Amino acid sequence: VRQNENKCFIGSIDQGTTSTRFLIFDEHGIPHASHQIEFKQIYPHSGWVEHDPYELVSSTETCIEEATKAFLAAGHSVSDIKAIGITNQRETTIVWDSETGEALHPAVVWPDTRTKRLVRKLKARSGAPDLQPLCGLPLSTYPSSVKLLWLLENVPSVRKAYDACRLAFGTVDSWLLFRLNGGLERNIHVTDPTNASRTMFLNIHTLKYDDQLLKFFGLEKEKLRLPKVVPSSDATGFGSLTSGILKGVRITGCLGDQSSALVGQCAFSPGRAKNTYGTGCFLLYNTGTEPVISKYGLLTTVAYDFGKGHKPVYALEGSIAAAGSAVKFLQNNLRIIGSDKEVGELAETVEDSGGVVFVTAFSGLFAPYWIDDAKGTIFGLTQHTQLGHIARATLEATCFQTHAILSAMEKDSGHTLHELAVDGGMSNSDFFIQIQTQSNILGLPIDRPLMRETTALGTAIAAGFAIGIWSEFEGMKHIGQEGRTVFRPRIGGAEREKMVKRWERAVGMCKGWMD
Ligand code: G3P
Repeated sequence: VRQNENKCFIGSIDQGTTSTRFLIFDEHGIPHASHQIEFKQIYPHSGWVEHDPYELVSSTETCIEEATKAFLAAGHSVSDIKAIGITNQRETTIVWDSETGEALHPAVVWPDTRTKRLVRKLKARSGAPDLQPLCGLPLSTYPSSVKLLWLLENVPSVRKAYDACRLAFGTVDSWLLFRLNGGLERNIHVTDPTNASRTMFLNIHTLKYDDQLLKFFGLEKEKLRLPKVVPSSDATGFGSLTSGILKGVRITGCLGDQSSALVGQCAFSPGRAKNTYGTGCFLLYNTGTEPVISKYGLLTTVAYDFGKGHKPVYALEGSIAAAGSAVKFLQNNLRIIGSDKEVGELAETVEDSGGVVFVTAFSGLFAPYWIDDAKGTIFGLTQHTQLGHIARATLEATCFQTHAILSAMEKDSGHTLHELAVDGGMSNSDFFIQIQTQSNILGLPIDRPLMRETTALGTAIAAGFAIGIWSEFEGMKHIGQEGRTVFRPRIGGAEREKMVKRWERAVGMCKGWMD
């Protein structure tokens, strides 16, 4: 850390799937102020998930205003905030008219499965090339590419803008950066490699848009306005806020939220891994400066690209579509808990899941299975089943999927993971983390930091690095790393094996549902 007579703080916009936040960190990674807003989830049809693009912006602006007010009330001043980083839900697709700057459709959110048929059609194309070695992702309903194709095929205003060469495409980072920079006033249309690597348009080796990929999706480069790719840590490329309490503060960091959590865990060396339990759950394993293309159902993604002559770093990723959202399902749909925090208490009322297995496939199953047509299914109900068993089976579903991802990761990387760092909402529950280990579903120590705002911290680190608050990785390895707790496994392999077998059997039975 640079010795600095001036106070040095960094703001962090964290635009997630269910809430938006703004946090203000000091140079040791300690948050001094924060504000959070939950925004509306729109489910127009079964399997569809949308957000209002304008609510994503207004919630961001309100969070900045409120957190900064609290920061000022604590005796700091606006000039103490040297830069802002942005981190965001990935893949979520937003399109706008490049002439008017207005969004043309609600955001199509990453777990949305409306593209199921489209994906089937693309997969069935004769002579379809294997895209994964180029872009790191397999064809599924998850990436932005198929969401954009759906919009082009189904929304006349989107098609019209495309035909008139006015269709601007972006993930949430691009949209927010465009609006926060005053929209058409500056017309900043950018993204970073971690977000761009979730679209299927980016060649992950060159970090440039790839003609072969665009051609596969039938997209003409001249007609589609794609965001310019800027390194995740950059002093000038992301502009600055043009209005509000922090008007004029530069935005110098941008990372997809899972990449940001990896950086926030300071997992800068190859072989380090983290699992973030948010709306979904995402395990990222740092593979260093060479991308590893998975043979076992994982994704390859850009972990971070800090520019300034540093090579981009890659990760193998295991993505789970439903984690916190499955707990929300117990709260909002089944109404068996009053708040998500109660899930642990309810699950603790029983010794085990009583033979219940809940395959929480609300958006199909992602890694390592990639079953688009799986539906959420509860197996093993008997007269003995209590609500506690269902709560427990809901939590275990994330553990089993993490277990399957770890097995794939070991095969792909040739290394056995000895410890896993965790963060995100569900990791706050000791009981949940204990299930991960106590039931030995993972069978390895779980390492949880005291400061769990790792997603927000990651992009603050990227932003601070761009403006020289930290100048080398060695000095960043300890930011926010104090007071970690390690949870150790407590049950034997035989019991785990039995549970895992039952889970895999349930996965096999939840696919092929008719719509
Ligand atoms: O890929 C989707 C992911 O970025 C969403 O993260 O934390 O909102 O579940 P989260």
